[in-house]
Order: sequence, then C-alpha cells, then structure tokens
Amino acid sequence: MKSTIENFNKHVMGTYGRYDIVLDCGTKEIASDDYGKKYIDFGSGIGTNSLGFGYTAWTEAVVSQIIKLQHTSNYYYTEVQAEFAEKLCEISGYEKVFFCNSGAEANECAIKIARKYSFDKYGADAKRYEIITLEQSFHGRTVTTLSATGQESMHNYFFPFTPGFVHIKPDIRSFENALTDKTCAIMLEFIQGEGGVLNLSEEFINGIFDICKERDILIIADEVQTGCGRTGKFLASQYYNVKPDITTLAKAIAGGLPMGACLTADKCSTVLGRGDHGSTFGGNPVCCAGGNAVLKTISAPGFLDEITKKGEYFREKLLSMSAVTSVSGIGLMIGIKFRAGINAADISKKCHDNGLLVLTAKDKLRFLPPLTISFEEIDDGLAILEKILLQENKS
Ligand SMILES: Cc1ncc(COP(=O)(O)O)c(C=O)c1O
Repeated sequence: MKSTIENFNKHVMGTYGRYDIVLDCGTKEIASDDYGKKYIDFGSGIGTNSLGFGYTAWTEAVVSQIIKLQHTSNYYYTEVQAEFAEKLCEISGYEKVFFCNSGAEANECAIKIARKYSFDKYGADAKRYEIITLEQSFHGRTVTTLSATGQESMHNYFFPFTPGFVHIKPDIRSFENALTDKTCAIMLEFIQGEGGVLNLSEEFINGIFDICKERDILIIADEVQTGCGRTGKFLASQYYNVKPDITTLAKAIAGGLPMGACLTADKCSTVLGRGDHGSTFGGNPVCCAGGNAVLKTISAPGFLDEITKKGEYFREKLLSMSAVTSVSGIGLMIGIKFRAGINAADISKKCHDNGLLVLTAKDKLRFLPPLTISFEEIDDGLAILEKILLQENKS
C-alpha cells in the first residue's frame, strides 16, 4: 500500500516544504499523527486554530450550522452573517465589513478600496493609485498582494506584477521620501510576522498617522496574523492607540475555517458599491458560525488579559534559556532569536521530532500557539525546546 506521503507528493503540487508528519487528529492544544504520536501545538496552523482543536462551543456552532444551511451565495441574506458582521464591528470598532476567504483576498479588497477612494474623490486624471508598503512585509500570494509584499525574494517569475507599489524601510524619512501626489495609501503590519516577527516602532506609527491625516492618505493595517486577540488585544493597533482607515483580518478569525474580513472606518465604508467586488464563498454561513464562536469566546471577561499573561510567561521562560538572545512580538505572537551557531530551522525540525509543533520566521523560531493554550502546556512545550537547546550547547 502506498504511504500517505508518497501518495500526497505524487498528486499535490510541491509548493510547500513539509515535515514528514501526517497529522491525523487533534484535541485542544495537542495534535496526533497517524502513528498516534502526540505533539504540543505552538503553531496553531500558522496562527489559525485560535481555540485549538475541537473547542466544544466552536464545534457545536459549526456542526449545527452545517446541518442547517451550508452555503447560500451572496444573492441572499443570512442571519449568521449579519450576526458575525455586527459582533466583528462591535469588537473591532469599525463600521462595515466585507467578507472573503483568506488574508490575501482581504488585502486585495483593501487595495481596491484605497484606490477607488482616491479615484472617486480626486478623479482618474490625478492617478492617485500608489500604495506604500514596508520592506520585509508579507501581504499574500496573489499577483497584486505579492507586488505589495516588500520582500525582493517574492518578486520573481510571475511578471508583470501589478504596478503602483513602493516599498520602504519603516522610518519616517523613508516614508516622506516615498510620498508623491500619486500616493493613496500605506499598508503595514504592526508586527511583521513572516518578515521575522518584527515590531514597528511607536514613533514610526505616530509619524505616519500624522502625515496621512494631513494628506488624506489611507492607512491599511494588515492584521491577518496579529489580529483577533493574538497580541492580547483584539487588534494590534490598539497597542499603538490608533485606528487605521482599513483593517484586514483572516487566519484566527473563524478558528480554523477559511474566512477573511476587510473592515472599514466610516470614511471609506461606502467606497465599494454594488458590483464593485465579490467572492462566492465570502461570508459562508458555516465559517461565520465558527467566527461567532471565536468572537464570543475571546470577548469573555479576562480572556484577552490571560493572553497577555501567557505571553509574559513565555517570554520570561525563554529569556532564561542561555541560547536565546532576544524575544520579539507581543502577547502570543513570539519570535525567538538564538545565539550565533544555532539555526532556527534545525531547531524547528528537532522540536517536531520531539513532539512540539513550531514555526520559523526568517532566522527566528516562531510560536503562534492557540489562544487557549494552558500554562501547563506552555511548560511542557518549553521543556522540549530547552532540552534540545541544552544538547546544542553541548555539541
Ligand atoms: C500579515 C499577513 N498578511 C497576509 C497573509 C496571507 O494570508 P492568506 O495565506 O490567508 O492568504 C499572511 C499569511 O501568512 C500574513 O501573515
């Protein structure tokens, strides 16, 4: 009989580097492979299984929605989508939302809104379509969101890329130098996840908010990775005490079901009208039911504060390990830098071999555990990492 891995590789395009692990099932924060080996989950499917595996309230909401009505298309209204939109606007402080299926799609929507906002207000002749993004950013894999992504390594093969994107270093002088009469927006991640868990400075954020307000330039926050409680606040922008004009969400928003959202403030909530945008599966009832369960869970009193406490606990323990030189990120978004000679990709492989699912981001080990992870599981997972690092120290 063919093995799953053999069968998989024969038929699925090889676009990902995968570990030789076949995951079979999961309970709470523990995954199991096809041999029954257990893994503590510090990756949550790249920050997506926000409530772990099979969280009871989430599972019940999703299953009962599947039984009731699985899909309708957006020619019709559904109560579950209305409820999700209402709750999402309430918890995020935004006025309206467009639902789609992924982070890239949410960013595509944000880019279209930014460009049409300027088109409507300043006219076609103004050619106000340029969007500034940051070096090391990651905004998705569609041709346009790859253009937005400020990593040279992503700008190969697929020419011509969508024009109108300018990439800068995250400092005010670079921003001012990049501004032209054609600038309509800046798009940024408050903590660059794929770029290496890099926190933007408050000084930079405050500076661009001042300039953008003055020049009517829209600010798009890509909170696909940082949003939905990951940092201990619903949005990372709340740490910086700012409200971007547009915020995009995906990953954790529906607890592991495909869902993306583009949230708009009043200023640009009516830019897209009938026929300007769409997505067949966007706002799918089952995904909205999952999203409602996520929002209900994370808005329970004390839930977000616990994330902050767990994040601090992680940091304290990590910094006590001699091989760790720094820890970046906020809350349960964690980037770990090791001393020279220790390779994060090798450590990641060893963690997997020893029953701990982790991620990497550039030269760092990265943790995005389920928000529901317990202190005991944090201890158990970090004990695995510490043992591996002690062996590295000896070798
Ligand atoms: C900040 C950010 N934006 C956008 C994306 C793309 O999201 P998706 O893979 O759901 O299209 C990602 C994915 O890692 C991300 O981290």
